[in-house]
Amino acid sequence: MKALLLEKIHPAAVGLLEDAGLEVVQRPSALEEEDLTAALSGVAVLGIRSKTRLSAAVLAAAPDLLAVGAFCIGTDQIDLPAASALGLAVFNAPYSNTRSVVELTLAEIIALTRRLTEKDRTMHAGTWDKSAAGAHEVRGRTLGIVGYGNIGAQLSVVSEALGMRVVFYDTADKLALGNARRCVSLDELLEVSDVVSLHVDGRPSNSSLFGEKEFSQMRPGSLFLNLCRGFVIDHDALRRHLVSGHLAGAAVDVFPDEPRSAGEEFASVLRGLPNVILTPHIGGSTEEAQADIGTFVGTKLADFISHGSTSLSVNLPQVSLQPADGSHRLAHVHSNIPGVMAEINSVLAAHDVNVEAQLLGTRGELGYVLTDIGVDYSDEVVQQLRAMTPTVRLRVLS
Ligand SMILES: NC(=O)c1ccc[n+]([C@@H]2O[C@H](COP(=O)([O-])OP(=O)(O)OC[C@H]3O[C@@H](n4cnc5c(N)ncnc54)[C@H](O)[C@@H]3O)[C@@H](O)[C@H]2O)c1
Repeated sequence: MKALLLEKIHPAAVGLLEDAGLEVVQRPSALEEEDLTAALSGVAVLGIRSKTRLSAAVLAAAPDLLAVGAFCIGTDQIDLPAASALGLAVFNAPYSNTRSVVELTLAEIIALTRRLTEKDRTMHAGTWDKSAAGAHEVRGRTLGIVGYGNIGAQLSVVSEALGMRVVFYDTADKLALGNARRCVSLDELLEVSDVVSLHVDGRPSNSSLFGEKEFSQMRPGSLFLNLCRGFVIDHDALRRHLVSGHLAGAAVDVFPDEPRSAGEEFASVLRGLPNVILTPHIGGSTEEAQADIGTFVGTKLADFISHGSTSLSVNLPQVSLQPADGSHRLAHVHSNIPGVMAEINSVLAAHDVNVEAQLLGTRGELGYVLTDIGVDYSDEVVQQLRAMTPTVRLRVLS
C-alpha cells in the first residue's frame, strides 16, 4: 500500500506509516484538482494540510483511497459528506497546535498594544524614537474572544494570567473558565472589548462574519486579531477602519487567498499599514506543534490501516477493538439501517464462520463494525458481505 504526503508533513508521520507497512511518497506543496487526481492513483492513504482541497470529484476518482489524514486542525478543505459516503476515514489533530496559536495571539496582543513593530522598524531605519505615546499595558484591558473552543478557551486562561479581563461569545453553550464572562451576543462583546480576537471554526456560515457593521461596532482605538480562517472577515472593511484610525491596529494570520507555496507573492489590501502585523498562516506552525501533529495523525492512520481503528475519526463511527492473534478482521462500513448486523452474522453463520470478537459503532447515516473471525473461510464469505445492499466498504485485515 502507498501513502502520499503533501505540504511538508512532519517526518514523525513517515516512520509511523512505514512501520504500518506503507510505502511513503512525499511532495512539498499542495496539488490542484487535476494533478491531485492523477497522483492519487494507487494511493491508500493521503496526508494533507490546509492547502489541499479534497472535493467530491477528487475523492470519487480515487478508488484505492482508504483514509485521509488532515495534518492540521480544520477539515473544511475536505468534502466530508463525500468522504463518508465512500466509507473513507478522515482524521485530524484537533489539539496539537492549540497552544502555539494561543502563544502567537498573546504575543501579537502585547506587540500591538505597545506598537512594537513600529518601534522595531524605526530602530532598524536608524531612528531613536523614545516615546510612550500610544503604548499601553495589556493588564486591565478587556479581551473579547469570539469562538470559545479549544483555542479560545485556552487563550482565555492565559490572558487572565496576564491581568486581562476576558469576555467571550460563542454560539454553543460553553463553560466560562476562571473569571471570564460570557456575552449573550456579539454586539455585547464588541461594545465592551479593547481587543477582539476571532477563534471560530470554518463552517460555511462563518463566511464574512466580520464586515463593515461589526468593525463599526468595535470601540474606537481597539485592536482586532484574526488567527482562525481567512474568509471569516471582510479585508476591505478592515482596511477602511484601520486607515480611518477607528481601529488602532490589527494582526492577521489567515487570508481568503493564500499563496500555495513559499516564495509566491502575497497580495493583500492590508499590506503596508502601520501597526498591522501580517503573518503567513503560522499560528499553529511551531516545531513542537508540527511534531505533535505528525505523531498524532500518523498514529491514527497507522492504527486504521493495521487494525481498522477509527478512534477520533472526524467522520466515521468511532470503533476500536483490541487486535487478536490468529484471526482476520472484517472492517465493514455500511448504511445505518436496521438488520445489517443480522445480515452480516447470518452470512458468517451460513458458512460456519465463528465470530471471535465484534464491535459496532454508528454515527448519523453510517455504521461501522469490526468482526474478528478465524482464518479458515472461503472467498465467498467476503464476496457475499461485499454484495450486501447496505455495504459501503469492506476491508479484510490479516
Ligand atoms: N492560524 C492557524 O495556524 C490556526 C491553527 C489552528 C487552528 N486555526 C483555526 O482556529 C479556529 C479555532 O480552532 P479551535 O480548535 O479552537 O476550534 P473549535 O472547534 O474547538 O472552536 C470553535 C468555536 O467557535 C464557535 N463558533 C463557531 N461559529 C461561531 C460564531 N459564528 N460565533 C461565535 N462562536 C462560534 C464554536 O461553537 C466553537 O466553540 C479554527 O477555525 C481553526 O481552523 C488556525
